[in-house]
Amino acid sequence: MRFSTLTQRIAGDAAAAWDIHYQAQALRREGREIFLLSVGDPDFDTPVAIVDAAVNSLRRGETHYSDVRGSLALRQAIARRSGPQVSADQVMVLAGAQCALYAVCQCLFEAGDEVIVAEPMYVTYHGVLGACGARPVPVSVSPELGFHLDPLAVARAITPRTRGLLLNTPHNPTGAAISPQDMAQLAQLCREHDLWLVCDQVYSGLLYEGAAVDPGSLPGMAERCVIIDSVSKSHAMSGWRVGWVVAPETLVAHLANLAMAMLFGLPEFVMQATCVALEQDLPAVRGMREAYRQRRDRVCAALADCPGVRAHRPAGGMFVMLDIRATGLSAQAFAQRLLMEEGVSLLPGDAFGPSAAGHVRMGLVLDAEQLQAVCGRIRACALRLLAEQAGGDIDGEAQNRRVEHETYQ
Ligand SMILES: Cc1ncc(COP(=O)(O)O)c(C=O)c1O
Repeated sequence: MRFSTLTQRIAGDAAAAWDIHYQAQALRREGREIFLLSVGDPDFDTPVAIVDAAVNSLRRGETHYSDVRGSLALRQAIARRSGPQVSADQVMVLAGAQCALYAVCQCLFEAGDEVIVAEPMYVTYHGVLGACGARPVPVSVSPELGFHLDPLAVARAITPRTRGLLLNTPHNPTGAAISPQDMAQLAQLCREHDLWLVCDQVYSGLLYEGAAVDPGSLPGMAERCVIIDSVSKSHAMSGWRVGWVVAPETLVAHLANLAMAMLFGLPEFVMQATCVALEQDLPAVRGMREAYRQRRDRVCAALADCPGVRAHRPAGGMFVMLDIRATGLSAQAFAQRLLMEEGVSLLPGDAFGPSAAGHVRMGLVLDAEQLQAVCGRIRACALRLLAEQAGGDIDGEAQNRRVEHETYQ
């Protein structure tokens, strides 16, 4: 049977990126002790007050169709936290930031369009842009410059076909955040070249350093700025599938039409719970944020003098990128050895783009004590690799192992 060409455009390498993760899960099922740090799924439970709100809503019988744009109460809550200039009519609620990214790109971009994206980039961006036929134009961010997106490099990537920038701050996988000064320059480029500025801010609730920037509040940006956010990370609600778009009303109207054809509204009880998440000052939410910051600090301190491994201190988010180039292995080979020899599962950086080659991404999804133990295991693995390297002519067994691991790519 024939399938549409869309099926080819959405099938990328994204699935292969998770090979190590699936392998780690399989080892765990076999009974091996595995530290699973290859995902960005919070290890915390959703705070009780949020769960209670959903349960109460269910008990009230709120189990019917809902407003396709999202309930008014939730849109108002989102508008309130988005700034005094934002109204509920500029908010569209969708099934997570992922669904929001897909819907937004469908409504903004099409075949022949170019969209500038920092590389490395979140793995689903290829499928999202591919689905609408647009071409992602990668602007590489270098580990040597702290993975910062240079507005001048973005300017150089603009062509007559460019329709928008797809930004992600704090950034997955690197943890870099766009500074207010750089955001002002990027906004300036958007105004000069009549571009959309789409900003994926799913880690905005987890910014530890530097000021948060709202590109929509910059002069002349309200009409061309699209903010995407969710409660998946900040409130440990990844499985609830609720996210949103803050955008000009015209775009929200198009998104509502798309949601009508595709999603038909979120469950009311999920939205009731999200209202509590966004409107109440929950100590558990503050606690999670503080825990991520402490975990980041613990990992960076534990690996500060680790031979062969350099941790990039992230400004935000829930990942730490480790530069393992000095070990002499590719990220894939390093991740593979770390998994098999130490039971630690990290994601190879190349999965996100070539500029992250030689790096592995560590999710801060275990408590600080466990992360400390993981760092000990990373150190042990790195020391072994360096010893093999120093041995020059490494023993046959190790050499075979290395070849085996290299071909795993
Ligand atoms: C950069 C980025 N954007 C979007 C998403 C999707 O988030 P959500 O769970 O809200 O769909 C993720 C999830 O990991 C992400 O890292």
